[in-house]
Amino acid sequence: DSQIKAAALQGRKGGQRIACLTAYDYPTARLLDEAGVGLLLVGDSLGMVVLGYPDTTHVTMEHMLHHVAAVARGNQQALIVGDLPIHSYDSPSQALENAQKLVDAGADAVKLEGGVRQADKVKAIVDAGIPVLGHMGMLPQRVLEEGGYKKKGKSEEEFEAILDGCRALEKAGVFAIVLESVVADTAQRLTDALTVPTIGIGCGEKTCDGEVAVITDLVGAYPWFVPPFAKPQSNIAEDVSKAVRWYIQQA
Ligand code: KIV
Ligand code: NA
Repeated sequence: DSQIKAAALQGRKGGQRIACLTAYDYPTARLLDEAGVGLLLVGDSLGMVVLGYPDTTHVTMEHMLHHVAAVARGNQQALIVGDLPIHSYDSPSQALENAQKLVDAGADAVKLEGGVRQADKVKAIVDAGIPVLGHMGMLPQRVLEEGGYKKKGKSEEEFEAILDGCRALEKAGVFAIVLESVVADTAQRLTDALTVPTIGIGCGEKTCDGEVAVITDLVGAYPWFVPPFAKPQSNIAEDVSKAVRWYIQQA
Protein backbone atom coordinates (compact mmCIF):
# COMPACT_ATOMS: atom_id res chain seq x y z
CA ASP A 1 0.00 0.00 0.00
CA SER A 2 0.90 3.69 -0.04
CA GLN A 3 2.81 3.74 3.23
CA ILE A 4 4.84 0.66 2.28
CA LYS A 5 5.72 2.19 -1.10
CA ALA A 6 6.71 5.49 0.52
CA ALA A 7 8.83 3.70 3.12
CA ALA A 8 10.57 1.76 0.35
CA LEU A 9 11.43 5.00 -1.43
CA GLN A 10 12.63 6.51 1.86
CA GLY A 11 14.85 3.46 2.35
CA ARG A 12 16.70 4.24 -0.87
CA LYS A 13 18.62 7.09 0.84
CA GLY A 14 22.19 6.85 -0.41
CA GLY A 15 21.34 3.66 -2.35
CA GLN A 16 19.35 2.91 -5.49
CA ARG A 17 18.62 6.24 -7.14
CA ILE A 18 15.05 7.55 -7.28
CA ALA A 19 13.69 8.46 -10.73
CA CYS A 20 10.56 10.59 -10.60
CA LEU A 21 8.61 12.09 -13.49
CA THR A 22 5.50 14.23 -13.64
CA ALA A 23 2.35 12.91 -15.30
CA TYR A 24 -0.99 14.64 -15.77
CA ASP A 25 -3.11 12.24 -17.82
CA TYR A 26 -3.99 8.59 -18.37
CA PRO A 27 -1.81 7.71 -21.39
CA THR A 28 1.31 9.37 -19.97
CA ALA A 29 0.85 7.73 -16.56
CA ARG A 30 0.35 4.36 -18.21
CA LEU A 31 3.44 4.72 -20.40
CA LEU A 32 5.63 5.87 -17.50
CA ASP A 33 4.38 3.21 -15.10
CA GLU A 34 4.87 0.48 -17.71
CA ALA A 35 8.41 1.81 -18.35
CA GLY A 36 9.19 1.34 -14.65
CA VAL A 37 9.05 4.84 -13.14
CA GLY A 38 8.51 4.24 -9.43
CA LEU A 39 7.33 7.72 -8.51
CA LEU A 40 4.75 9.68 -10.53
CA LEU A 41 4.16 13.29 -9.55
CA VAL A 42 0.95 14.98 -10.56
CA GLY A 43 2.63 18.34 -10.11
CA ASP A 44 0.92 21.69 -10.14
CA SER A 45 3.24 22.37 -13.10
CA LEU A 46 0.01 21.05 -14.64
CA GLY A 47 -1.12 24.67 -14.64
CA MET A 48 1.66 25.69 -17.01
CA VAL A 49 2.41 22.71 -19.26
CA VAL A 50 -1.15 21.40 -19.63
CA LEU A 51 -3.61 24.17 -18.74
CA GLY A 52 -1.79 27.14 -20.27
CA TYR A 53 -1.50 29.40 -17.22
CA PRO A 54 1.62 31.58 -16.77
CA ASP A 55 2.59 29.95 -13.44
CA THR A 56 1.35 27.48 -10.81
CA THR A 57 -0.55 30.05 -8.73
CA HIS A 58 -3.70 29.53 -10.84
CA VAL A 59 -4.03 25.82 -10.06
CA THR A 60 -7.02 24.76 -7.94
CA MET A 61 -8.00 21.61 -6.05
CA GLU A 62 -10.57 20.91 -8.78
CA HIS A 63 -7.79 20.88 -11.42
CA MET A 64 -5.65 18.60 -9.27
CA LEU A 65 -8.43 16.13 -8.47
CA HIS A 66 -9.37 15.83 -12.15
CA HIS A 67 -5.79 15.02 -13.20
CA VAL A 68 -4.87 12.85 -10.21
CA ALA A 69 -7.87 10.66 -11.05
CA ALA A 70 -6.75 10.36 -14.69
CA VAL A 71 -3.19 9.41 -13.66
CA ALA A 72 -4.49 6.89 -11.13
CA ARG A 73 -6.53 5.16 -13.84
CA GLY A 74 -3.35 4.67 -15.89
CA ASN A 75 -1.15 3.46 -13.05
CA GLN A 76 -0.54 0.02 -11.56
CA GLN A 77 2.75 0.07 -9.67
CA ALA A 78 4.11 3.57 -9.11
CA LEU A 79 3.60 5.71 -6.04
CA ILE A 80 1.43 8.65 -7.12
CA VAL A 81 2.12 11.98 -5.44
CA GLY A 82 -0.42 14.76 -5.90
CA ASP A 83 0.61 18.38 -5.37
CA LEU A 84 -1.44 20.40 -2.92
CA PRO A 85 -2.03 23.62 -4.91
CA ILE A 86 -1.55 27.13 -3.55
CA HIS A 87 -3.95 28.06 -0.71
CA SER A 88 -5.14 24.47 -0.30
CA TYR A 89 -3.01 24.06 2.85
CA ASP A 90 -3.23 27.38 4.70
CA SER A 91 -4.02 25.60 8.00
CA PRO A 92 -3.36 22.06 9.29
CA SER A 93 -7.05 21.11 9.12
CA GLN A 94 -7.42 22.47 5.58
CA ALA A 95 -4.20 20.69 4.56
CA LEU A 96 -5.48 17.37 5.89
CA GLU A 97 -8.92 17.80 4.33
CA ASN A 98 -7.42 18.49 0.88
CA ALA A 99 -4.77 15.78 1.20
CA GLN A 100 -7.59 13.33 1.90
CA LYS A 101 -9.43 14.54 -1.22
CA LEU A 102 -6.32 13.91 -3.35
CA VAL A 103 -6.03 10.42 -1.84
CA ASP A 104 -9.72 9.74 -2.51
CA ALA A 105 -9.08 10.76 -6.15
CA GLY A 106 -6.26 8.20 -6.40
CA ALA A 107 -3.08 9.73 -4.98
CA ASP A 108 -0.89 7.66 -2.63
CA ALA A 109 0.86 10.69 -1.18
CA VAL A 110 0.85 14.49 -1.39
CA LYS A 111 3.45 17.22 -1.77
CA LEU A 112 3.44 20.76 -0.45
CA GLU A 113 5.96 23.59 -0.63
CA GLY A 114 8.00 25.03 2.21
CA GLY A 115 9.71 24.12 5.47
CA VAL A 116 9.41 25.48 8.99
CA ARG A 117 6.04 27.16 8.47
CA GLN A 118 4.54 24.01 6.89
CA ALA A 119 5.72 21.50 9.50
CA ASP A 120 2.42 21.49 11.43
CA LYS A 121 0.51 20.84 8.20
CA VAL A 122 2.84 18.01 7.21
CA LYS A 123 2.45 16.47 10.65
CA ALA A 124 -1.36 16.64 10.48
CA ILE A 125 -1.33 14.80 7.14
CA VAL A 126 1.31 12.23 8.15
CA ASP A 127 -0.50 11.52 11.44
CA ALA A 128 -3.59 10.63 9.39
CA GLY A 129 -1.54 7.99 7.56
CA ILE A 130 -0.93 9.87 4.29
CA PRO A 131 2.72 10.02 3.17
CA VAL A 132 4.05 13.52 2.42
CA LEU A 133 6.82 14.62 0.06
CA GLY A 134 8.49 17.91 1.01
CA HIS A 135 9.61 20.62 -1.42
CA MET A 136 12.40 23.11 -0.61
CA GLY A 137 14.63 25.55 -2.47
CA MET A 138 12.83 27.45 -5.21
CA LEU A 139 9.11 27.32 -4.39
CA PRO A 140 7.11 28.04 -7.58
CA GLN A 141 3.92 28.83 -5.65
CA ARG A 142 5.80 31.91 -4.35
CA VAL A 143 7.10 33.02 -7.75
CA LEU A 144 5.07 36.24 -7.69
CA GLU A 145 6.43 37.33 -4.25
CA GLU A 146 9.95 36.36 -5.33
CA GLY A 147 9.74 38.13 -8.69
CA GLY A 148 10.95 35.17 -10.75
CA TYR A 149 12.55 31.73 -10.64
CA LYS A 150 15.80 32.18 -8.72
CA LYS A 151 18.63 29.86 -7.75
CA LYS A 152 18.66 29.06 -4.03
CA GLY A 153 21.40 28.22 -1.57
CA LYS A 154 24.04 30.63 -2.83
CA SER A 155 25.12 31.81 0.64
CA GLU A 156 25.86 30.10 3.96
CA GLU A 157 22.76 31.82 5.43
CA GLU A 158 20.58 30.37 2.69
CA PHE A 159 22.10 26.92 3.19
CA GLU A 160 21.30 27.12 6.91
CA ALA A 161 17.75 28.34 6.26
CA ILE A 162 17.04 25.55 3.78
CA LEU A 163 18.60 23.00 6.13
CA ASP A 164 16.40 24.22 9.02
CA GLY A 165 13.34 23.87 6.80
CA CYS A 166 14.34 20.39 5.66
CA ARG A 167 14.95 19.30 9.26
CA ALA A 168 11.52 20.59 10.29
CA LEU A 169 10.02 18.54 7.45
CA GLU A 170 11.98 15.44 8.47
CA LYS A 171 10.79 15.83 12.03
CA ALA A 172 7.20 16.22 10.79
CA GLY A 173 7.56 12.92 8.96
CA VAL A 174 8.14 13.48 5.21
CA PHE A 175 9.43 10.42 3.32
CA ALA A 176 11.63 12.50 0.98
CA ILE A 177 12.22 16.11 -0.03
CA VAL A 178 12.28 17.67 -3.50
CA LEU A 179 15.05 20.25 -3.84
CA GLU A 180 14.40 22.72 -6.65
CA SER A 181 16.99 25.06 -8.20
CA VAL A 182 19.47 24.78 -5.34
CA VAL A 183 23.11 25.38 -6.34
CA ALA A 184 24.87 22.04 -6.78
CA ASP A 185 27.31 22.35 -3.91
CA THR A 186 24.54 23.30 -1.45
CA ALA A 187 22.26 20.52 -2.73
CA GLN A 188 25.07 18.02 -2.08
CA ARG A 189 25.59 19.36 1.46
CA LEU A 190 21.85 19.14 2.16
CA THR A 191 21.73 15.59 0.80
CA ASP A 192 24.62 14.62 3.08
CA ALA A 193 23.07 16.29 6.12
CA LEU A 194 19.56 14.83 5.81
CA THR A 195 18.30 11.37 6.74
CA VAL A 196 15.50 11.30 4.11
CA PRO A 197 16.25 11.12 0.38
CA THR A 198 16.52 14.33 -1.62
CA ILE A 199 15.03 14.43 -5.11
CA GLY A 200 16.56 17.18 -7.22
CA ILE A 201 15.44 19.33 -10.11
CA GLY A 202 17.81 21.99 -11.40
CA CYS A 203 20.34 21.11 -8.68
CA GLY A 204 23.21 19.86 -10.87
CA GLU A 205 24.33 16.32 -11.60
CA LYS A 206 23.91 13.61 -8.92
CA THR A 207 23.88 16.03 -5.98
CA CYS A 208 20.66 14.45 -4.67
CA ASP A 209 19.44 10.88 -3.98
CA GLY A 210 17.23 11.03 -7.04
CA GLU A 211 15.90 13.27 -9.76
CA VAL A 212 12.53 14.63 -10.80
CA ALA A 213 11.74 16.06 -14.22
CA VAL A 214 8.68 17.50 -15.87
CA ILE A 215 7.62 14.97 -18.51
CA THR A 216 7.10 17.62 -21.21
CA ASP A 217 10.72 18.78 -20.66
CA LEU A 218 12.03 15.21 -21.01
CA VAL A 219 10.15 14.46 -24.22
CA GLY A 220 10.23 17.92 -25.84
CA ALA A 221 6.48 18.41 -25.81
CA TYR A 222 6.39 22.04 -24.63
CA PRO A 223 8.76 24.00 -26.89
CA TRP A 224 7.76 27.49 -25.73
CA PHE A 225 9.62 27.25 -22.44
CA VAL A 226 12.45 24.82 -21.84
CA PRO A 227 14.33 25.21 -18.54
CA PRO A 228 18.11 25.38 -18.89
CA PHE A 229 18.60 22.14 -16.92
CA ALA A 230 16.18 20.09 -19.12
CA LYS A 231 17.64 17.09 -20.93
CA PRO A 232 15.16 16.48 -23.77
CA GLN A 233 15.39 12.94 -25.17
CA SER A 234 12.85 13.38 -27.95
CA ASN A 235 11.09 16.16 -29.84
CA ILE A 236 7.40 15.43 -29.56
CA ALA A 237 6.46 19.00 -30.52
CA GLU A 238 8.22 18.63 -33.87
CA ASP A 239 6.73 15.16 -34.45
CA VAL A 240 3.22 16.50 -33.84
CA SER A 241 3.76 19.47 -36.16
CA LYS A 242 5.12 17.17 -38.86
CA ALA A 243 2.24 14.71 -38.57
CA VAL A 244 -0.30 17.54 -38.72
CA ARG A 245 1.34 19.18 -41.75
CA TRP A 246 1.24 15.80 -43.50
CA TYR A 247 -2.41 15.39 -42.58
CA ILE A 248 -3.36 18.82 -43.94
CA GLN A 249 -1.49 18.11 -47.18
CA GLN A 250 -3.15 14.79 -47.84
CA ALA A 251 -6.70 15.68 -46.72
O1 KIV B 1 4.84 20.72 -10.13
C1 KIV B 1 5.89 20.11 -10.39
O2 KIV B 1 6.10 19.60 -11.50
C2 KIV B 1 6.89 20.01 -9.34
C3 KIV B 1 8.23 19.48 -9.71
C4 KIV B 1 8.98 20.44 -10.57
C5 KIV B 1 9.02 19.09 -8.52
O3 KIV B 1 6.62 20.39 -8.23
NA1 NA C 1 4.72 21.58 -8.07
